[in-house]
Amino acid sequence: MVRLGVNVDHVATLRQARKARDPDPVTAAMIAELAGADNITAHLREDRRHIQERDVRLLRELVKSSLNLELASSEDVLACACDVRPDTACLVPERREELTTEGGLDLKANRRAVERAIERLRKAGVRPGLFIDPDVAQVRAAAELGATHIELHTGAYARCRQPDDILRELGKLNAAAVQANRRGLAVHAGHGLDYRNVQAVLSTSFLEEVNIGHAIIARAIFVGIEEAVREMSAVVHDAGAPEEWSDTED
Ligand code: PXP
Repeated sequence: MVRLGVNVDHVATLRQARKARDPDPVTAAMIAELAGADNITAHLREDRRHIQERDVRLLRELVKSSLNLELASSEDVLACACDVRPDTACLVPERREELTTEGGLDLKANRRAVERAIERLRKAGVRPGLFIDPDVAQVRAAAELGATHIELHTGAYARCRQPDDILRELGKLNAAAVQANRRGLAVHAGHGLDYRNVQAVLSTSFLEEVNIGHAIIARAIFVGIEEAVREMSAVVHDAGAPEEWSDTED
């Protein structure tokens, strides 16, 4: 069964819009766990635009499933990760002007920084992962650098509208996952996944976990976070979408 990771960054985005106390991403994480999340993910960005250090520390104390911290390899964020010690840490590229993480890490261009970050995380007892595009060369580099897992960027897949394009992107995800498994890397996937498009990704070979934020938190505004996570959990855990979410018509 593929695990469902719920990313609570967007709850913090709303709180930070007013620099207020509510809504609290930690409360959201607690409810998400009760509703079926197998993992809670938070991204401590360099500019602290949503998740704050206080959130990460509280999440570490309270999350009972598994805590995944997304981070760039900058000094203060790495220091926080090594101190807080989430179960896993996923290194991502970060640009201040981006709305969200726009692409996977380029492990060739950033080899030294990534290598150092992985070493520090490992020493702190944190399992290091790398967020990369579904590209076999990047997978090989991730294995060489000593990651324990990769998270495959599903953004290109999620943007596809034509069946041929969708199949091509699913093929890339699968090829990257097969390569990762051969090299001993666990396979996670995420970005842009929603209640409809996640279904096809679930059949990616060796996939262990999907991480989903925007679609769940957006739906939570209308149905509440518990219901939104329950619905996603039904799709991911049952690996068969309720008819409502299925794109196939008979
Ligand atoms: N995985 C990674 C590495 C991410 O950076 C993000 C976005 O924060 C996600 C998954 C979740 O993406 P989305 O919010 O589009 O579901």
